[in-house]
Amino acid sequence: MRLCMIGTGYVGLVSGTCFADIGHTVYCVDKNEEVINKLNSGKSSIYEPGLNELIKKNHRSKRLFFTSNISYALNKSDIIFICVGTPSKKNSLSVDLSYVFKAAKEISKFAKKKKIIVTKSTVPIGTGDQIEKILKNKKKFIVISNPEFLREGEAIRDFRYPDRIIVGSNENKSFKTIKSLYLPLINKGAKYFSTNRRGAELIKYASNAFLATKITFINEIANLCEKTGINIEDISLGMGSDVRIGSRFLRAGPAYGGSCFPKDTKGLISIADKEKVDLSLVKSVIKSNEKRKKLLLDKVHTIIGKNIKNKNIVFLGVTFKPNTDDMRDSPSLGMIPYFHKKGANITYYDPTGAKYEFVKLKNCKFYNQINLACKNADLIILHTEWDEFKSLDFNKIVKNKKFILYDLRNLYLPKEMKRKKINYFSIGR
Ligand code: NAD
Ligand code: UGA
Repeated sequence: MRLCMIGTGYVGLVSGTCFADIGHTVYCVDKNEEVINKLNSGKSSIYEPGLNELIKKNHRSKRLFFTSNISYALNKSDIIFICVGTPSKKNSLSVDLSYVFKAAKEISKFAKKKKIIVTKSTVPIGTGDQIEKILKNKKKFIVISNPEFLREGEAIRDFRYPDRIIVGSNENKSFKTIKSLYLPLINKGAKYFSTNRRGAELIKYASNAFLATKITFINEIANLCEKTGINIEDISLGMGSDVRIGSRFLRAGPAYGGSCFPKDTKGLISIADKEKVDLSLVKSVIKSNEKRKKLLLDKVHTIIGKNIKNKNIVFLGVTFKPNTDDMRDSPSLGMIPYFHKKGANITYYDPTGAKYEFVKLKNCKFYNQINLACKNADLIILHTEWDEFKSLDFNKIVKNKKFILYDLRNLYLPKEMKRKKINYFSIGR
């Protein structure tokens, strides 16, 4: 089949490339020409393990094309995926749908023949209905919802082996077409569910809000563990062994971040508020996650004192999770400027390089080697659980023998750290 992905970001690029890899012909469109030029020169515009190779392979096989000409891409394709961003509106909980509606207007303007329009972007209940209204010649279009569940850093695997494929449509005929698009994955065991369009839109928000709730729950239990001398890892294991609870997403850590949980929990509240439904649980999840950010800053003060002027604080990893370069809503975005303002000298290392978010901070320096970043540390904050941070010999790489390690991802064992005489703090232990 011939597909057009409007928006070549984390979702459009990964799913477009993976669709090409299972045999479809894919035209990825982005209004950002820099992104398209980079991709056409054979380089991925984002950091996602395995993606570069897959792009090169499918680009070479002429199954994957990149363009900023939306009219060209649309008219080469039968199925159009909308994969543009749906951020929160500034100072509001509600979802900014301007990119989605702009894409719909462009489809309406340029598409010459009948097309199936599939919304992959995460959109509030009823957005499909609004898109339909924008598309003037309604007979020419079928609007479907097919939410995306991939995780950054594991996106290719998530595309190839999804837990489920959800398709929401108000037209029975279209199910067959979309199902056949995904057939290579369904044949390998992926579950396929169909529902109406609004149902699919809500499944996506409900899933993200539930996962955010699970993380927030374990983070609060971790707070209790710290006060009572209990190890949170035992609790996660003990609870997670109950199949009704499940072991995944029970890792305590800093506040959850990323481009989706924060905005989608807020988005769900605003959707429900419009319907006068009080999602009090989701509201308290957001509140608890916000509180957690402050709680961790306070903890740092408890560890190294109130006055942190001229203290050398090192961050290992600054992205919200490993195997991605995405900084959106990363906990480090709150922590680093706070410590910097308090007069600390910040150094950081991240496998995906220096971040423009910190360039304006005078005493915040990026090093491209762990050793160099850690050399003069008073405090090391292990912020992101990249594999390369999992077996470091801190005593060897830090000059100051009195340095403190604050492990926000529980990568190290307290017993082992004690044996090595490292002043060690972690989460919920
Ligand atoms: P992104 O910001 O990485 O990419 C969006 C891209 O769309 C940008 O490159 C932008 O230039 C482009 N764009 C915007 N309007 C356009 C237009 N009219 N024509 C052409 N290009 C246009 O966003 P993302 O992280 O890929 O997320 C996209 C959607 O998917 C969001 O709704 C998000 O919630 C959802 N989602 C994201 C993830 C994820 O892991 N990032 C996972 C599942 C779902
Ligand atoms: C999340 C969902 O997992 C995807 O299914 C969804 O498609 C995506 O959002 C989206 O809608 O964009 P992602 O944000 O890439 O994916 O990453 P996650 O692995 O879910 O992590 C999100 C945040 O939760 C990170 O800050 C991570 O550190 C934190 N987390 C995750 C924990 O603190 N503990 C856990 O056990 C799991």
